[in-house]
Amino acid sequence: MINIADIENRGMVYVPYPSALRRAVLDAIAAWEAFCNLPEEVKLRFPYEPDKKQSGNGYELKKERGETLDRKEDFHLRLSAHDELLTNARALGDERAEQFVEAALLLPDLIEPLLVSFAQEVEERYKVQGFSTAVADAKPEFLLRFLHYFGDCEPEEMIGSPHVDKGGFTLHLYESDKGVEHLSTDKQSWIPMPLAHEDTVIFPALGLQQYLGSRVKALCHRIVATPECARQGRFSAVCFVDFRGARHYDKARHGRLQKFPPGFNYDMPAEQFNDLFVE
Ligand SMILES: [Fe+2]
Repeated sequence: MINIADIENRGMVYVPYPSALRRAVLDAIAAWEAFCNLPEEVKLRFPYEPDKKQSGNGYELKKERGETLDRKEDFHLRLSAHDELLTNARALGDERAEQFVEAALLLPDLIEPLLVSFAQEVEERYKVQGFSTAVADAKPEFLLRFLHYFGDCEPEEMIGSPHVDKGGFTLHLYESDKGVEHLSTDKQSWIPMPLAHEDTVIFPALGLQQYLGSRVKALCHRIVATPECARQGRFSAVCFVDFRGARHYDKARHGRLQKFPPGFNYDMPAEQFNDLFVE
């Protein structure tokens, strides 16, 4: 059961986690951890292809700590890039790369029914006809993102700066440790947001806020290191969902999203908010 009113009341919706999906996610995470253990020079031979409006496919290593740039490695995959991802994985000459790509790309088929039931609830509540079809049609472009934050940090250190996600909405799939917090509606407090056990969570990103005329708000969130993850690092996985009709944030005109103050979108006047997007 989904309590869709939570999307406004709590800023997010908890959804039952189908066991087949949960198992497949755990397999993909094990394969991701194995990939992360490959030597850096091998991993870096996996190209990142930033040929998409939002973000590309492949492996990225971000080692330098800038003001808002988090230290991590990540991997983006979409079904639509299946063949090139597999070709690139094979070219690495280590089967762990191929195993990871294959395990990860099993997920979209298992994720789709979950997202479609969520989308049907949204469609009914907000009278947005065609929304669930648009979400189902987006399956080849569901963006799977696997992350690994490095362990060499202090407990309580912010390892993921406050931000809202850029796509339509976000499904959380896995986290190896607690640490995600979201900003309350009144912007006064950070509330722990444990994820991905019996239930998992879906929360709006900028695209859904815009699509629903700000009746829901993109959820501002951050990641704070626990003592364990400060020592051992943190693995996680999410699925970003873009759908037909979702507009895109205009980075060329407005710069990096992280420069806006946390919760900027909670009470931004409609005209100003709508201007953030590409025409
Ligand atoms: Fe995020």
